Parts: sequence; C-alpha cells; structure tokens
Amino acid sequence: MLDEIYFVAGARPNFMKIAPLVHQSVEQGVKFKIIHTGQHYDYNMSRVFFENLNIPEPDYFLDAGSGTHAYQTAKIMMEFEKLLLKQTPKLVVVVGDVNSTIACALVAKKLFVDVAHVEAGLRSFDRKMPEEINRVLTDQISDLLFTTEKEAEVNLKNEGIEEQKIFFVGNVMIDTLVTNLEKAKNLDTYKSLGLLKDQYALITLHRPSNVDKKEDLIKIVDALNHLSERIKVFFPVHPRTNRNLIEFGLYDRLKSDNVIIGEPIGYLEFLNLMLNSKLILTDSGGIQEEASYLGIPILTLRENTERPITVEKGTNTIIGRDFQLLKRQINDVLASRYKKGQEIEGWDGKSAKRIMEIIKKKYFT
Ligand code: UD1
Repeated sequence: MLDEIYFVAGARPNFMKIAPLVHQSVEQGVKFKIIHTGQHYDYNMSRVFFENLNIPEPDYFLDAGSGTHAYQTAKIMMEFEKLLLKQTPKLVVVVGDVNSTIACALVAKKLFVDVAHVEAGLRSFDRKMPEEINRVLTDQISDLLFTTEKEAEVNLKNEGIEEQKIFFVGNVMIDTLVTNLEKAKNLDTYKSLGLLKDQYALITLHRPSNVDKKEDLIKIVDALNHLSERIKVFFPVHPRTNRNLIEFGLYDRLKSDNVIIGEPIGYLEFLNLMLNSKLILTDSGGIQEEASYLGIPILTLRENTERPITVEKGTNTIIGRDFQLLKRQINDVLASRYKKGQEIEGWDGKSAKRIMEIIKKKYFT
C-alpha cells in the first residue's frame, strides 16, 4: 500500500473544495496525489481553477468527458479502477456531490480502500436531483464523513450512519473564499464589464430541472427580463445552459440592453463579481454558501436546498418557481429591506486544517 492519499476532483465545484485540502496536506506533511476525472475539461470550467487556486497539476487525468449519467459515471469508474488496481492509496478523498464523487467512492470501496467524503450529509430530499442520489450513496459507503453544517449529522444518523464516522468540520469552500478574498477584491472584473458597484445582479443557472426543458427555461428567461427592467444583469452562461438556450432559440428572447451575457469565468473573477453585486440569482449549491458568508442577498431558483443553514442564518431565500415571490424579494433587496445574514458556525477558514488533522491521526500515526 502506498503511503499517501488520493484527492479526487472532476467538475467545477470540486476544485475549490480540494484546494485547501491539498495545501493543508503539504503543510501537515501528508503525501498525496491529485486525480482529475476529466468530467469538466474546458479551460474555464477546469484549468483556470487550478491556476487561480494554486493547485498543483493533477498526477492522473482520467479523461472521462461528458455523456449520459451512466456513460460518464461508468467511464470514470473504469479509468479509476485501472489506476487503483495498479496502486493502493491509504485513503481516497472525494468532495461534493457530482458524478465523479460517487464513481470514485464506489470504485475505491469495492477494492477495499477507505473513502472520506467532504461535504457529507447534505440532503435536498429531492431524489430527482442527480446530486441527491450521489450524496446518499457516497455517504453510505464512506468511512469518514466530514460535515459543513449540524443538520447534516442528523441526516446521516437518520440514514443509519454510525456517529463515530461523522465529524463536523465546517466548510472547505469557505476556506478557499477566505484565502482568496483580498486577491479577488483587488481585481477590476466588474469594472471591466462596465458594471457599477452594487448596481447589478449576478446570475448563474445550470440545473437540469431549470434549463433542460424549453418551457422551464422560457419562464426563467422571462424572469431575467423582468429583473433587467429593475437592475443591470450579468449572466455568465454555463455550457449546459448555453447549449439549451441555442437549441430552444431563446437567446433572442433574452436580448435586452440591460442583460450582459458572458462565458463561464474563473474563481477569482467570479468572486470579484459576487463581492460587488447587489444580488445574486442562482440555482447553484455552493454559491448559496459563498453569498451567505459574504452577506450578499441570494435568491435561489430551486424548490429546495440541501444547505438549509444558508436560509436559516445566511442570506438565501428559496424561490422555487414562484415568480411573484421573486418579484417581491427583488423589491426588498432594491429597497434595502432584505434580511441580513449571521455568522455560521465552523465557516472560519480552518476546515481543511481540521479535516487533515483527523486524517493524519487515523492513517499516518
Ligand atoms: C455537473 C454536476 C453538477 C454541478 C455542475 C457544475 C453531476 C451530476 N452534475 O453538472 O452537480 O453543479 O457540474 O458545473 O455531476 N460541458 C462543456 N464543457 C465542460 C463540461 C461540460 O461544454 O468542461 C457541457 C457538455 O455539453 C456536457 C454538459 O456541459 O454534456 C453538462 O456537463 P456535466 O458534467 O454532465 O453536467 P453539469 O451540468 O456541468
């Protein structure tokens, strides 16, 4: 067995989660390798994050690419299995809830390699979300479950996970945010787009439930048009959403002088855009947490969230498809009546340190 651990990352929201773990491993003298599954592969969906966050080059690139769920998951599994059959690490660390997460956890476990899941126990209780399936299954087979909020432990115990496997450590994504805040503040991303501080809304949309069906996407485009009558809108479009906006012929419907369309952007630039925005409209998971930490109003176009703390203590409101509610919340934000957030326990920039101390104690002493 190799005297090292493997960090798995594959899709955009994974990279900011492995960054602080990698840096802490160096700090604590734990040997590691980085496995990039290749689930995301465009420069601005993958490599830019390695550059922005000083993550070393991946040691192994599995080149899985896009495809249906079965195809993509299977491709990652086959490639990762080949690697693990050649060499066995002490532990495979998976993060988040993407297809790469469950694929690599499953391969490792079946080859008797321990698995740690970072961001365990989050539940939307919506099994139509592919990520929910990935979360539940990854947690069932993980040996160490690191949680970001207290509710996650309740969820895990309800699913029969033994208490001694669960560790409340806080949020590694917030570690990355804390580390990069100053750098992002010093950029002029929003200015270079012609935007003014606190005078624009930032949009991210990519959930299949919002963007894969024409009738759903039309409603969202109309909501964006409404928003753009009130405030300037910047919308860096995810590849899935871009493909569908083209296929359904909806870019024309979105056209307004007040909507600026962009490509997906890097971590630091996006953080700069968040920091200077008046509000964020999203269906992302992680951005609900980042905006809550930063105290920026965030309206979530989903029926539920697996991150309830962002609603209870943060600045998040779940809008679902209630566009009247959306209009009221937009009014409140623009009139500065919107709720203020509070500090969230454990979101202090030290989560990766706590995680690596636990891993080191269990596997390297
Ligand atoms: C995936 C994750 C989702 C996460 C999101 C962040 C799963 C099930 N979903 O969804 O949880 O929130 O990443 O972005 O793992 N594409 C490109 N370039 C790329 C990658 C993808 O053009 O670098 C296009 C392809 O057409 C692909 C589509 O985007 O088919 C969707 O990519 P995929 O990784 O399958 O799912 P996401 O929607 O990105």
